[in-house]
Amino acid sequence: MKRFYLTTAIDYVNGKAHIGHAYEKILTDVIARHYKKCSDKLFFLTGTDEHGIKIQKTAAERGITPKELCDENANSFKETWKELGINYNKFIRTTDDYHEKAVQLIFKKLLEKGDIYKNSYTGLYCQGCECFLSEKDLTEDGLCPDHLKKPEKVSEENYFFKLTKYKDAIIKHIKENPDFIVPSFRAGEVLNQLEDIQDISVSRSISNVTWGIPVLEDPEQVIYVWIDALSNYITGLGYNPEGSSEDFNEYWPANLHVIGKDILKFHSIYWLAILMALDLPLPKQILAHGWITIDETKMSKSLGNVIAPTDILNNFELENADALRYYMATAAPLGKDGNYSDVDFKEKVNAHLANSMGNLLNRTLSMLVKYFDGEIKPEFKPDENILNIAKNTIDRVKYHFDRYETQEAGQAIMTLVDATNKFVTDNAPWTLAKEEKMIECGSVLRTVLDVMCIVAYLIEPFCPNISKGMAEQLSYDLNKKYDELSLDNIKDGKLIEKEQIKPVFLRIDSEFADKTKK
Ligand code: MSP
Repeated sequence: MKRFYLTTAIDYVNGKAHIGHAYEKILTDVIARHYKKCSDKLFFLTGTDEHGIKIQKTAAERGITPKELCDENANSFKETWKELGINYNKFIRTTDDYHEKAVQLIFKKLLEKGDIYKNSYTGLYCQGCECFLSEKDLTEDGLCPDHLKKPEKVSEENYFFKLTKYKDAIIKHIKENPDFIVPSFRAGEVLNQLEDIQDISVSRSISNVTWGIPVLEDPEQVIYVWIDALSNYITGLGYNPEGSSEDFNEYWPANLHVIGKDILKFHSIYWLAILMALDLPLPKQILAHGWITIDETKMSKSLGNVIAPTDILNNFELENADALRYYMATAAPLGKDGNYSDVDFKEKVNAHLANSMGNLLNRTLSMLVKYFDGEIKPEFKPDENILNIAKNTIDRVKYHFDRYETQEAGQAIMTLVDATNKFVTDNAPWTLAKEEKMIECGSVLRTVLDVMCIVAYLIEPFCPNISKGMAEQLSYDLNKKYDELSLDNIKDGKLIEKEQIKPVFLRIDSEFADKTKK
């Protein structure tokens, strides 16, 4: 595969990053790190969605300008992603000058084409969704089902996008490409929503909303946030109707948009229609992930249970985000909801990363030093059965990662670790040493260390720091593609000195459990 382009949703900046936003960015970063091992070139775009009534109102409540609010929170998002090791290529802000200009020209192009027209309109606007809802969308009490707030009745003259013109083409695309929406069980929902789709409002009057990109030909109107927001996927690469960049020509169409299930409609219907209207190719896949709950409860400001990822790192005094990355990316099966709890987090990462994986490396290297002064002898021959299991694991992990099944990929790695731990217990190298069966003892150790090189490679998308720590102690070069992986990894000769052995992941102490909520 030559190149891979993937994106996340861009986050609203009326608050700071919480664990739900972090879940998506971690998931995408894990997928990106996997695809870096399989493709020649990769581009990972993320960013912030900065216009709209919500941001305008939050800024007004705080007595600052919308731009000041956006700057403050966009910076906070960036800092959080840095702490989580999110290795994006570009961070787009929808207030970036180049983006605003390109969006104005996109709007102009659609207006000239006749796909955008002006109409007067009365509708129910939900500020939480930043969109108009129909009566049918509301709960029995007339509330938005996602935000549980009564939408505001708005009468305005707006610009409309001819979504209905593209309805049949979108249905055809979804039906003909069963892999387009991941997981595929969500495609049915989208096809249902398409049944009674209407043209959509794509601008707001400045008498109601001022914080938006002005329509070039009509400064009384600002461009409605979804056309602005969705366009980030192409403007972030340098798309402009008047001439695009090399990156755009190289990377578009996207291989994957990673988004939450709540905004699938915007991506699988609105975005496709906009791209069709712009005569641009369509993205290859959309991954709609599930939601993260806290202690099985929906996160919300009113419940006071919103957790920031940095709270977790600080409260458990973690020196990097590997444990949180591993926990989040294995929290749920593809597209299903997952849960975060302090107790479960502590138990899982201690069990998997410290007790099973970290300890295995640590005690094997310690035995190598104790019995062989850290040296691998040419007579030490690895166990073919275990290496076969490792080989199968490489294939399984790749298979799952290729399908974005990060939970299953993580499970497959831990199954290999468990099998290797069992191999050590069954063969008891300490007993072999006592019985002076040194070649057998050394062969067990070499086998484990060969496998640990594979584990270090496979775990890297989840835990880049742990992986690096393992690879350093194994003198193993992680910088390779999947198809360059070998099973014969440990070289003959001196591998390690006693002082160089250190735990790759420190157990989280029990005293930290349950602190995040307090
Ligand atoms: N700005 C829009 C997206 C525009 S994309 C062109 C938006 N922003 S958001 O800040 O509300 O959400 C950003 C992403 O975070 C979305 O994909 C959303 O699904 C995801 N999540 C927000 N809360 C979440 C959880 N509790 N759990 C998992 N993901 C969640 O929507």
